[in-house]
Amino acid sequence: MRIDPSVTREILSRTDLAALIGQYVSLHKRGRDLVGLCPFHAEKTPSFHAHPDQGYWKCFGCGKGGDAIRFVMELENLKFPDAARVLAKRAGIEVEPEDPRAARVRNEREAIYEANRIAAAFYHRLLLKDERAQGARDYCERRGLSAATIEAFQLGFAPNEWAALGDELRKAGIEADIALRAGLVKARAEGRGVYDVFRHRVMIPTASTTGEIVAFGGRALGDENPKYLNTGTTPVHTKGRFLYALNVARRGASKAGALIVVEGYLDCIALHQGGFDNAVASLGTSFTAEQAAELRKYAENVFVCFDADAAGQAATAKSIELLRQAGCNARIVSLPAGEDPDTFVRSKGAPAFQERLDAAVPWVEFMLDREISRIAGGFTGAAEIARRAERLVRSLPMEEWDRWRVYVANRLRLAPADLQNSRFYADASRFAPRAPAGAKMTRHLAAAPKRVSFERDVVAAFAEEPLLLEEYAGRIEPEAFSDPAIREILGHLYAGRSNLRTAADVTALVADRTDWVSFLAELQLNERSKHRRFEESAQRREFLDRVAALLDARRRAAETRNELVVLEREIESLQAAGTPIPKEIRERQNQLEDALRETEGKRERKEVNSPDHGA
Ligand code: UTP
Ligand code: MN
Repeated sequence: MRIDPSVTREILSRTDLAALIGQYVSLHKRGRDLVGLCPFHAEKTPSFHAHPDQGYWKCFGCGKGGDAIRFVMELENLKFPDAARVLAKRAGIEVEPEDPRAARVRNEREAIYEANRIAAAFYHRLLLKDERAQGARDYCERRGLSAATIEAFQLGFAPNEWAALGDELRKAGIEADIALRAGLVKARAEGRGVYDVFRHRVMIPTASTTGEIVAFGGRALGDENPKYLNTGTTPVHTKGRFLYALNVARRGASKAGALIVVEGYLDCIALHQGGFDNAVASLGTSFTAEQAAELRKYAENVFVCFDADAAGQAATAKSIELLRQAGCNARIVSLPAGEDPDTFVRSKGAPAFQERLDAAVPWVEFMLDREISRIAGGFTGAAEIARRAERLVRSLPMEEWDRWRVYVANRLRLAPADLQNSRFYADASRFAPRAPAGAKMTRHLAAAPKRVSFERDVVAAFAEEPLLLEEYAGRIEPEAFSDPAIREILGHLYAGRSNLRTAADVTALVADRTDWVSFLAELQLNERSKHRRFEESAQRREFLDRVAALLDARRRAAETRNELVVLEREIESLQAAGTPIPKEIRERQNQLEDALRETEGKRERKEVNSPDHGA
């Protein structure tokens, strides 16, 4: 079945090539390229190159190469339409090209893009030359927008009239129905005909990363309400789907290795004008998961620079969560109270903003500070804070733990050595040996299954015998695992467990996730070569029981450690005040330390060793 070229284009633009390939090949940055071992031929030195920016890959060893669809065709041995469908599904795109209704929808989208293009050109022309736009030109000047900026962002002006754009669109042959659906005009409540939606506003068009104009924001020239009038939901636009200026910023991002997210249109534009060509705007405070995923395609590092007020800070915390889920590394830029990026960069200059970027704090620090300020506010007890801090630090990659342990200790006014002595966070390091960074589920690894983290064996046990999921739900929880991929797949298995009876059910459940399919295939590889992880059900249970016991011990140890930390703080402040330490406190401290020693002592590595895989 034929797939329309515009659909193919959309599939390719919405596929993150680096993430796709990264599921199969461990990629490393070398210069502007990502390189790795070719999945299509055996090699020891990497000659497989990926260029996510340009959307293609190439192996200089075997000569294979192409776009994302070609990669899936080669790897999964699929024909073009089927490979395209795999990626379409992954990106949430509808591909039923022969259906006339779908074709109509696509034609409608194309027609709306055209209407938007004509509207943007019309507004822009007016702003540059028309006498009706004098007030708007003054406004732009007051806001410090240069001619080059007006050009680069195709800023425009909608005159204070009811039919200026409507007439323009009609002359250009755009059907009234399309103008309506594009959200450019509205039907009159009475009588026939339509009127312009945007009147007497500076017009700011938003483009998709493939270059189509999908929406407009109209800035009032004075104090009119609303301050910004925006295109609502249309066949080509949903709120929270796009990021303003990403079409430009993604080029800046590939140079800077990072994107800057701000709230407002003019914040973003002012930053570009100040030379920060990697800025995008989330448009309002509701940063969404979809926007986070979109950002991740272009940059791993994201600077978040929202307003300093409470709403902005809450939005920052929310965005951190979404960015982390999307796999971004977030840093938080703070500005003086009352400033936004636009006012700041214009009044203090670009170097001052650069200093703010350089001083941006890692997201953990922002979150920890937020927690700690709650102690100061007296709303949350110290024990609860310690618990939250621990949870936060636990969610970090291990490499970063040491650093944050010291930070937490300082902020909680404990000596870092105390934390280390009380092994505040130390246990997990022996609990879950992590795969080396970047080593994902590659086919190379799959071909030579060695000792892998026991976490995988938990998945293997459940995948081989999904009826066990019910039994261990609540005892073996996904959150307890260090590998995010394992957390995700386990969560999925638990969620679907009522329909899972056999290994085949598991395969069917994950069928639409190519990464999980290959992960499970890898586990099954062992089966085929007779090195299956578990010979029988009893073995699986025995293994899972050990894991459950271990997780339980770990939970209890964490609680003990938290209580200890709080106690030690109390002791410290008593000592600082010169007060003798009450006997009960000393006794409790000893009790807790004994309890901790006992649980730690029991937790030997061998307890979680997986069954031997032979090989
Ligand atoms: P702000 O109210 O912080 O405005 O809204 P701003 O960006 O500083 O705007 P200027 O500098 O006064 O022109 C931040 C963003 O929230 C959205 C817009 O995208 C705006 O840029 N917003 C705000 C709306 O969509 N509608 C509004 O009425 C207000
Ligand atoms: Mn502003």
